[in-house]
Amino acid sequence: MKITVLNGSPKGITSVTMQYVHYISKEFPQHELKILNISQRLRKIEKDAQAFQDILDEISSSDGILWASPVYYLLVPANYKRFIELISEKGAGDVFHNKYTAFLTTSIHFFDHTAHNYMNAVCDDLNMRYIGSFSADMYDLRKPEERERLRLFAGNFFDTIGNNAPILKSYLPLTWRNFKYTYGEAKSKTDAGNKKVLIVTDSENQQTNLGRMIERFKASFSTEIEMINLRDLHIKGSCLGCIHCGYDNQCVYEGKDDYIDFYNTKVKTADILIWAGRIKDRYLSARWKTFFDRSFFNGHTPSLIGKQIGFIISGPLSQIPNLRQALEAYVEIQHANPVGFVTDEYGDSTEIDSLLQNFGKCLVQFANSGYVRPNTFLSVGGRKLFRDDIWGRLRFPFRADYVAYKKLGAYDFPQKEYKTRIQNAIMLLLSKLPSFRKEINKRMKKEMIKPLQKVLEK
Ligand SMILES: Cc1cc2nc3c(=O)[nH]c(=O)nc-3n(C[C@H](O)[C@H](O)[C@H](O)COP(=O)(O)O)c2cc1C
Repeated sequence: MKITVLNGSPKGITSVTMQYVHYISKEFPQHELKILNISQRLRKIEKDAQAFQDILDEISSSDGILWASPVYYLLVPANYKRFIELISEKGAGDVFHNKYTAFLTTSIHFFDHTAHNYMNAVCDDLNMRYIGSFSADMYDLRKPEERERLRLFAGNFFDTIGNNAPILKSYLPLTWRNFKYTYGEAKSKTDAGNKKVLIVTDSENQQTNLGRMIERFKASFSTEIEMINLRDLHIKGSCLGCIHCGYDNQCVYEGKDDYIDFYNTKVKTADILIWAGRIKDRYLSARWKTFFDRSFFNGHTPSLIGKQIGFIISGPLSQIPNLRQALEAYVEIQHANPVGFVTDEYGDSTEIDSLLQNFGKCLVQFANSGYVRPNTFLSVGGRKLFRDDIWGRLRFPFRADYVAYKKLGAYDFPQKEYKTRIQNAIMLLLSKLPSFRKEINKRMKKEMIKPLQKVLEK
């Protein structure tokens, strides 16, 4: 069997993920796995029609396609995302039709599921036959039981193709609304006071729903609102995954393009951030993905603490809960407040006008009161994962994070709670007595609310 492997790592063959592909090749020498470096060669693939055609030819002559990529910011790297966009821009979807496919990632399991959901949906949209996905931790390959797991996954992949087995699709196609938003005059104006509002967008054209929603949002304020278009910035490329920033947050692109300065002087200094974009496939644009990927120079340290962040989105967001979750998670993990979304999916222009008007008001109110909504599992879970890895196995390459986490008091390991540990030890010992357990069972509900009642009695 011939399998084309589409490599998503910007590091090309010097990639952690590719070591997993090599392992599959080693275990299944009867099959040919041909690796194509997509992310690393994206610029050439984008500009040179023959380079893109060569990839299509490989895919055409393959029995299966293995998408293999690191997880970058809850998805795949920006260049890989751009390649996916090129497939539809260049009308090359037919080449992918009916091809069996699977998705292999390496990561530290931080929102690997959103990356997997995304690729599954993209493959369903391309009418591919998505066999399944495999999410390996970066260093799983060192463990015999994980190698065996990968071998079984790959075996199933080849068998499924060999048996021409039927595959169930997981995602319905998106339906886009045919609607032109036209805005009315803002009758009242919100005063942002001393709060700095910044709109970041990748809008290509002001005469689109997105462009007009941004204009209407700006018009709801009594002062001029700054807007920066990612298309106007000189961004040399996406994150290279080199981790040079791990030591002291210095990016290899520093001084070579506009991104770092823009992030430090504009994004970090705003109180209210509006991120505005149009849905492209199952996410925002690759340009937006570059914005997120390049923010990795901050490592795993939150860089937008306490900011109010809202999204203005054109397109069927409600049909892509995976995107909504990824965006909310990004904001939460930054210790910022995800204020919400305004889209052009529902309602007429008047309703969208009032949503945008109210959005501005809410953002300013929250900024004034310093409100940040309680964390959900998205960041509670994510932060524990980062805490453990930065304290532990990733401390060396991510020294800057290690130091910053210390300052933030992020090493809140439960082992340090000595009072709880003593209480637990006593209770566990006593609970060996049946009479004690009986009494506890009787009082459980009351005891659970006791500490809260103490607060209410104050
Ligand atoms: C810019 C950037 C973003 C990343 N984002 C994530 C992430 O969201 N979740 C995760 O679990 N790992 C994330 N990682 C870690 C990589 O997925 C992991 O190191 C992977 O094994 C690298 O594979 P590669 O060597 O094939 O590129 C990120 C790494 C970089 C450089």
